Amino acid sequence: MLTYLKSSIFKKFIMGLTGLGLSGFVLAHMAGNLLIFVSEEAYNIYGYKMTHNPAYPLIAWGLVGMMVLHAFMGILLTKENGAAKSGRYAVTPNTSKDTTTASKTMIFSGSILLVFIITHLVGFKYGTFYEVTYDGVVMRDLHRLIVEIFQNPLAVVWYVFALVVLSVHLRHGVSSCFQSLGFNHPRYTPCIKKIGILYAVIVAAGFISQPLYVYFVHKG
Ligand code: HEM
Repeated sequence: MLTYLKSSIFKKFIMGLTGLGLSGFVLAHMAGNLLIFVSEEAYNIYGYKMTHNPAYPLIAWGLVGMMVLHAFMGILLTKENGAAKSGRYAVTPNTSKDTTTASKTMIFSGSILLVFIITHLVGFKYGTFYEVTYDGVVMRDLHRLIVEIFQNPLAVVWYVFALVVLSVHLRHGVSSCFQSLGFNHPRYTPCIKKIGILYAVIVAAGFISQPLYVYFVHKG
C-alpha cells in the first residue's frame, strides 16, 4: 500500500483527478464571467448567488485542496523525472524526448499560473469591497472592481499573457489527465487530444475577451 502511495502511477492519478476538477472549474468560472457582456446587474447577482450558495465553502476549500495537491504532485513528478534523467534511478521511467519537453513546459506554465492565481485572488477575491443594492439586497459590486482593474493596460497585458499560458497548460493537461486516469486507447486518444485543444482554446478565448472588452469597449 505504502509503495503504491509513493509510486509515480499514484501521483499521476492524483494529478489527473485534480487536473480534471480544476479544468471543470475554469470552464464554469469563464462561462459565469461572460455575464459581463449581459449587464452589471447580471454579473453582480451571479457573484452574490455563487458566494451565498450553501455549498460554497465546500467548493472553495475543495478548490484550494485540488490546487495544492495538483501543484505538489507536479513538483514531485518533475523531480523524479529529473532524477531518472540524471541516472539516479536504476530503472528509467518513461523519459522520451516528447515526455520530457511536455513535462518541462507543464511545470513552467504551471508555475506562472500559480503566480497568476495568487495575484488574481489578491486583486479580485480580496480586492476592494464596493457595494451595490438591487431590490433592497446589498451585495458586492464586482463589476465596478473589474472595470477599475482592467482600465490599467498593464493588468490587461498580464491577464492576456497568463490566459495564453493557461491555454498552453490546458492543451496538454486535459488530454494527459485522461491518460493518467487510465483512458489510453489508440482509437480514442487522438480524439481526446483534439478535445483538449478545443477546450483550451474555448476557455482562454472566453476569458481573454473580458479584459479586452472592458479596456477597449466598456472603458468604465
Ligand atoms: C478574465 C479573467 C478572469 C476574471 C475577470 C475573473 C474574475 C474573478 C472574480 C470577480 C472573482 C471573485 C469572485 C467572488 O469573490 O465572488 C474571482 C475569483 C476566483 N478566480 Fe477568477 N477570474 C478570471 C480568471 C481566472 C482564472 C484563469 C483562474 C484560474 C486559473 C481563476 C481562479 C479564480 C479563483 C480560484 C477564484 C476564487 C473562487 C472563490 O473561492 O470564490 N480566475 N475571479
